[in-house]
Amino acid sequence: MTDSILDPGAARAALTNDPHRPRFHFLPPANWMNDPNGLIQWEGRFHLFYQHNPNGPFWGTMHWGHAVSDDLIHWQDWPIALTPTPGGPDDMGCFSGCTVDDNGVPTIVYTGVRGDQHHIQTQCLATSHDGLRTWKKHPANPVIPTAPRGMNTRDFRDPFVWKEGQMWYAVVGGQMQESGGVALLYRSPDLVNWTYLHPLLAGDPEQHGRMWECPNFFRLDNHYVLLVSVVSHAGVYSFVGNCSNHRFSPQHEGWLHPNGVFFAPLTMRDDRGRRLMWGWIDEERSGEAQQAAGWAGLQSLPILLNVRAGQLTMQPVPELRSLRQRIVAEASDLDLNGEQVINDHAGDMLEIQATFEANSSGSYGLAVRRSADGAEITRILVDAVQGRLLIDRTQSTLDTAQGAAADIMETDFRLNEGETLRLHVFVDRSVIEVFANDRAYLAARIYPSRADSQGLALVGPAKLQSLTAWSLRSIWPG
Ligand code: FRU
Repeated sequence: MTDSILDPGAARAALTNDPHRPRFHFLPPANWMNDPNGLIQWEGRFHLFYQHNPNGPFWGTMHWGHAVSDDLIHWQDWPIALTPTPGGPDDMGCFSGCTVDDNGVPTIVYTGVRGDQHHIQTQCLATSHDGLRTWKKHPANPVIPTAPRGMNTRDFRDPFVWKEGQMWYAVVGGQMQESGGVALLYRSPDLVNWTYLHPLLAGDPEQHGRMWECPNFFRLDNHYVLLVSVVSHAGVYSFVGNCSNHRFSPQHEGWLHPNGVFFAPLTMRDDRGRRLMWGWIDEERSGEAQQAAGWAGLQSLPILLNVRAGQLTMQPVPELRSLRQRIVAEASDLDLNGEQVINDHAGDMLEIQATFEANSSGSYGLAVRRSADGAEITRILVDAVQGRLLIDRTQSTLDTAQGAAADIMETDFRLNEGETLRLHVFVDRSVIEVFANDRAYLAARIYPSRADSQGLALVGPAKLQSLTAWSLRSIWPG
């Protein structure tokens, strides 16, 4: 087993002083991470696996990293779970997948890749007989050796598996030849012998992209939900609808995240019946800056999914409240015009909840990571005229050497008649996650350069009803 980091605690400690490294999000001790994998709660404890390159802060030689948590918030590093086997179907990498409980045997279903350009993609199994610590690859691998006829065999990956009665079902991401993204549905009595049934859903290439990665399909609040990640980091798309005879008919659809900064989310059902989601949050600075940092990528906060009035809702899990350290700003009933600083030293690890009266005529919201002179500032705004939620990074950093994103990231968002705006924001050094009225979500990276970029401000014209901001604690020792 590869375990290039012998002491994950020491590796983490060595990076703690990096001012851009998040402190209450999960990320590996060092090096590269992308997709969450294999999420499962086993005997009460949460297991998070992840796409990991233990050999550097860049994508390559994909392994499955592994961490465990008792409370969804604090994580402990476990040894790497899956390593490519030379000469095996995962010779060139162990790509994304899931973990299921096969009659008491924890079983990983993942994509093995081999060949130049990772062009032979097959589905494989691994099991554990020591409480998820070590994993043995199944002798029958690959259990799904090729994509169905009419599909592009080079893009066939990321199995998501569930059980109905005595039968296992899986959706696998793919691409129809000469067409677009597809979620392929399979059935198996034993996880080893699989029969291809039909596309659970095929997208329109114009609207839904060329290929779908990391499909998730589940029942939630009397609806069915399909999430797909559109290849080339175009974004994460959601469909909500009905399903009968394993045919899915979407009724609502839209972008869960409008670009690939938040990508490849994976969901799980916990022992309280909640549907929880994590997604990979990528870097938005140059490869050289990532190389110099020695780490790249993090997991989003755990997000609770529901379906309300036929639409997907997203909220940070309530467990996150345990991270609140102290209140750093409180305000209510303010008439705002322009920018109003409410705390110059609020910090760079924050949770902010704010409600505003709807303002139909302009852009309003908050600003974070503001330097005392306002030269560095990141604005989180609702633009009522254009109907969008945005994170404005045009002044997030003065350090041009990092190659950091300096654009305005935006997603569709409109208030309904009579609704107030509810912003719920988390800032963790270089990462921002914004939830608006539980139905719009944006994640973005910023890399401010100034030590005093710790201020919090309100942005009008608007009427603030109330605001509370807390400083949050680190989830890591030291
Ligand atoms: C999504 C993805 C998956 C693949 C994995 C490889 O980010 O491209 O489709 O399994 O990453 O690391």
